[in-house]
Amino acid sequence: MPDNLWQTMILSGELGRHPVQFFTSTGSTNDLALILSNTGAPDGTLIVADNQTAGRGRLAGRIWLSPPGTGLYFSLILRPRLSPEDFPKLTLAAGLALCKALEGHSHCQPGLKWPNDIFLHGKKCGGILTETQAVSGAGQTAVVIGIGLNVNIPAEAFTGELRSKATSLLAETGIPHDRGPLLAAILAELDLAVARLEQGDFPAILTEWRQRDIHAGHQVSWGNTQGKIITGISLGPDDEGFLHIRDNQGRIHSVISGDISLAQE
Ligand code: BTN
Repeated sequence: MPDNLWQTMILSGELGRHPVQFFTSTGSTNDLALILSNTGAPDGTLIVADNQTAGRGRLAGRIWLSPPGTGLYFSLILRPRLSPEDFPKLTLAAGLALCKALEGHSHCQPGLKWPNDIFLHGKKCGGILTETQAVSGAGQTAVVIGIGLNVNIPAEAFTGELRSKATSLLAETGIPHDRGPLLAAILAELDLAVARLEQGDFPAILTEWRQRDIHAGHQVSWGNTQGKIITGISLGPDDEGFLHIRDNQGRIHSVISGDISLAQE
């Protein structure tokens, strides 16, 4: 079955309200989006690739596996009515948007791992990379939300250490998913989430985020900036979106960034 919406998006250069720049193959859609955001690309511009040769993860040196024909790899350029200090909240809002789109479109129950991971049945199937570049001049600062989602990647394609850690919608639901309608559903939820943030609705977004938090109440480990490993109970994101961990001495740590893993992993 042809994915008509995907083809129409490529040919027309738009998807709903979003101008689309489509690439059969590129290094990283975030890299392109960051350049375009500095050269006046309008709010809502979407950079989509069928394949990335240098897809980047959030943590230094992490790559995002981006084989052609099977995944969603895209970056959304936004000029939100938010202060740049609030941009990290966009990552949590985008994670919730991704979950809601998957729940509505694919009838699955994804979970969220702070700050930017989407999980299905204990394995990662999607990730978010929010980036911005300071530019001089007037106007809203642009921010890029990059999303990678493993859609139709067969389970066998995850080899080595990825086998126990990564999955796809196809591997978990047993059915292939058209990328066009799925992307449209994600964009609709992303637009809603950004509008909610602009209206000051972050507390309600957090409430919904916490309902999907896969680590809340579990023992987790986190490497702090001094390289020390802290183990404790994840209390979930606080009202600013930072992760709170209560260590075994009862001290509360506020985590701004880093990689969190279940303590027994
Ligand atoms: C992570 O899990 O660490 C974030 C992964 C983000 C991957 C997406 S794919 C589209 C966009 N372009 C990139 O180079 N990265 C993001």
